[in-house]
Amino acid sequence: MEAEKIIKALADKPLQKKEQNYLVDRENEISKLNMLTRYHPFGIFGLCGETGVGKTTILNMIDSEEIKKIRISLIHRENKESILYDLLYTISLNLSRVENHAIKNLAKEVLNWIIEEVAVIKGATLGVSMIAKGDAKYEKTQLPRFNVFAAHEKLHRLLKTSIEEYGKIALLIDELDKESKQDVLNVLDSLKFELQQESMVTIFSLPYSIYREYKQDRMKWNESGNLENIIKDVIFLYEMSDSDILELLLRRLEGMNGWFKKNALVQIVSFADGNPRDALWIAQKVAFENLSEKYVDESKCKTTIKKIVREYMGSLILTEIQKKALKLCTDFIGSKEEILELFQNSGIKRTTAYSTLDRLVSSGLILEREGMYRISGKAKIFVSLI
Ligand SMILES: Nc1ncnc2c1ncn2[C@@H]1O[C@H](COP(=O)(O)OP(=O)(O)OP(=O)(O)O)[C@@H](O)[C@H]1O
Ligand SMILES: [Mg+2]
Repeated sequence: MEAEKIIKALADKPLQKKEQNYLVDRENEISKLNMLTRYHPFGIFGLCGETGVGKTTILNMIDSEEIKKIRISLIHRENKESILYDLLYTISLNLSRVENHAIKNLAKEVLNWIIEEVAVIKGATLGVSMIAKGDAKYEKTQLPRFNVFAAHEKLHRLLKTSIEEYGKIALLIDELDKESKQDVLNVLDSLKFELQQESMVTIFSLPYSIYREYKQDRMKWNESGNLENIIKDVIFLYEMSDSDILELLLRRLEGMNGWFKKNALVQIVSFADGNPRDALWIAQKVAFENLSEKYVDESKCKTTIKKIVREYMGSLILTEIQKKALKLCTDFIGSKEEILELFQNSGIKRTTAYSTLDRLVSSGLILEREGMYRISGKAKIFVSLI
């Protein structure tokens, strides 16, 4: 088998619109995002999900029809100010290439301003730190700041002009999903004025944790919450089903003459726990390890996965009770009460059962999905090794 071909087929990168034949499931989520882009008059929305579950892929699939779509991937996310600058830069770069003269000219003007501004800031920062010679106090007070007010004003004007010219715009902003809840809130709050203009819909990819907090805020369980003031709605990307992960792999491996036997792929699916990135990652690892083989069957696949789990999880330290609990639920799936009962029936004390379960869930060794608990695919292999 040509090694290069298999590795290429399993490459982990967000799917583009032209690669839709590889896209599995997600019709509902994509259709919801299409609808809200087209029909909501304005507002900020979130696309939440764990890392690697497919947020960027889904953002790429949005079809806003005649509504002008501006796609942005944040790179400089050090703080609120760098995000503002990054946003302004990327939007103006995007709009400096459009046909509409009014927008193109304004975008170019903003682009030049921001390039000069950043050059000045960099130069001055360098100058100051050279004079300051490591005197932190001096450096702090003298450090030039981003011209935040001007940047906000320019962002507002650029978006407003685009709305006037295009009628409606959709901003799709990726990569805010790597930040903490507080940082996300600060950023969204600081951009409220610019992003909540009439005839403009913004969709952010947001961290997994935001979803839970958002639901609580909406239902007013969370006194201090204020997410619902900023975010109108959140679309959550759940993990994929095992059969969808299998389908994803089959589509990627089409034309590889069954080099991966079906029962080998089942092992990969179990490892992935519904996460497409994990599936592609482990499949590539297995392929690398077995390139000289004529094919990979269940046994070869299992051996490689075990080797990788040993390598990656070998240093994981578990207490005897945690090990016992994990072994108990190797072939278990059930509610919280049922799993606690399972632990207690095997001699684990009630309070210990609770704390052990919490610990194993927070470390991802036991998964909780829609109220049902089960061991993760990775942990299942790990316990078979100890
Ligand atoms: N529905 C899908 N069908 C087929 N492949 C998918 C699907 N969703 C995601 N993938 C694949 O899974 C991998 C991860 O997807 P993607 O990069 O979109 O995830 P993400 O949530 O944006 O990750 P990150 O948190 O790192 O930004 C990619 O290789 C992508 O091609
Ligand atoms: Mg992404």
